[in-house]
Amino acid sequence: MEASHLGDDLTSIVVSHQQLETRIREIAADIDRDYADIDKPLLMIGVLKGAVMVMADLARAISIPLHMDWMAVSSYGHGTKSSGVVRILKDLDIDIKDRHVLIVEDILDSGLTLSWLIRNLASRGPASVNVMTMMRKPDAIKVQVDARYIGFDIPNEFVVGFGLDYAEQYRHLRDVAILAPHVYQH
Ligand code: PRP
Repeated sequence: MEASHLGDDLTSIVVSHQQLETRIREIAADIDRDYADIDKPLLMIGVLKGAVMVMADLARAISIPLHMDWMAVSSYGHGTKSSGVVRILKDLDIDIKDRHVLIVEDILDSGLTLSWLIRNLASRGPASVNVMTMMRKPDAIKVQVDARYIGFDIPNEFVVGFGLDYAEQYRHLRDVAILAPHVYQH
């Protein structure tokens, strides 16, 4: 979906689809280089649902052998993202022991999801665990997360698009854009 189809739902575009495409190609080249010598295919783990878009584009820009798997996680209860308590809704199908793992995320916000996920995956005996996130909000961070590949640092605004939703809407917007407050303030 194009931003122009959304009328006044958006206030401005933060990262355009052209910028996303260019940056994904750069990161794919870094990944090809960094993992050139591993003995098994790189295992990319996407975190549902937001990472679907970045996973699809990044994977297709990578040339080295890779496998893909998915996890779905959720914070307990209501507004408890800040609690850092995460529960697994869908676990991996693949055993990650001795595998080089790259977690793929759409956004690193407070850092609570990723810090939990890194610890969880590290406990399963992988050869390595690294993180690629398309967006990061430096001003929202509560827990430091070491992301090896970062697409863009963005302001601490309510953004949608390229996988990011508001009430499940706007994920298929091609750009990342700031949602107008009238959409979520009732
Ligand atoms: C988003 C995003 C990350 C998490 C980041 O997922 O995909 O997983 O929030 O936030 P944090 O750094 O504050 O933990 P969300 O829970 O909105 O689910 P979704 O991907 O299905 O939209």
